[in-house]
Amino acid sequence: MTAGKKNAPASWRHYNFTTAGPVDDYLYSMLPKRDAVLVEMEEYATEHDVPIVGPAVASVLQQLALVINAHAVFELGSAIGYSTIWWAQAVGDKGQVIYTDGDPKNAERARGYFARAGVSSRIKIHTGDALEYLSEQKQEFDIIFNDVDKDDYPRVLRLVAPRLRKGGLFITDNVLWSGRVAEKNPSDARTKAILEFNRKLYDSPEFYTTILPIRDGLAVALKK
Ligand SMILES: C[S@@+](CC[C@H](N)C(=O)[O-])C[C@H]1O[C@@H](n2cnc3c(N)ncnc32)[C@H](O)[C@@H]1O
Repeated sequence: MTAGKKNAPASWRHYNFTTAGPVDDYLYSMLPKRDAVLVEMEEYATEHDVPIVGPAVASVLQQLALVINAHAVFELGSAIGYSTIWWAQAVGDKGQVIYTDGDPKNAERARGYFARAGVSSRIKIHTGDALEYLSEQKQEFDIIFNDVDKDDYPRVLRLVAPRLRKGGLFITDNVLWSGRVAEKNPSDARTKAILEFNRKLYDSPEFYTTILPIRDGLAVALKK
């Protein structure tokens, strides 16, 4: 167990939600050891409540990138660059990952981690609005990963399809929103935005979608 404050699991684990606590601990205990830089980032995220995907989801992300032989990844919402490094390790020397975050302090911290992880040459850092930057992109990506503010999820969905290659993946974190998606009449704007996003993604004729109930829910959508 990655201990957070007062010996509880780290907040980024979403502990005891999609899987019972002991099963969750088992899944995390099975994960291979990470590089020193990734471990340091996990500890920093635990200490400062940075909502990183964590190693269980990051392994899925990296595995999916390897399965479709991804070389071009656009990430919306990168924070300290934890998930970015997992993508960068998957895309190979000639691949590129676009890091985006609205907070320059996050970008600065991420830049240091990228250098120490030896992946700087594979990452382009953009500080500013991720949706605006995605809308300016002319190339097609193999993977677009969505992890921005939840209110923006429906808007992200409208931007993605033209910028993803056929057979590419649109992947979105937190689509179960700690179970709030199952509430009868949610009043919270973020929950409503996620519900709208999930419905439209499943209904879209452009995507073949599955929500993986890992951690806080990961939507994996294949562009047809
Ligand atoms: C959940 S964190 C990202 C975690 C990261 N994907 C990881 O797992 O390591 C969300 C980040 O998105 C950034 N963010 C939210 N909305 C954004 C937007 N519209 N444009 C750029 N960054 C945004 C926030 O500053 C925050 O750092």
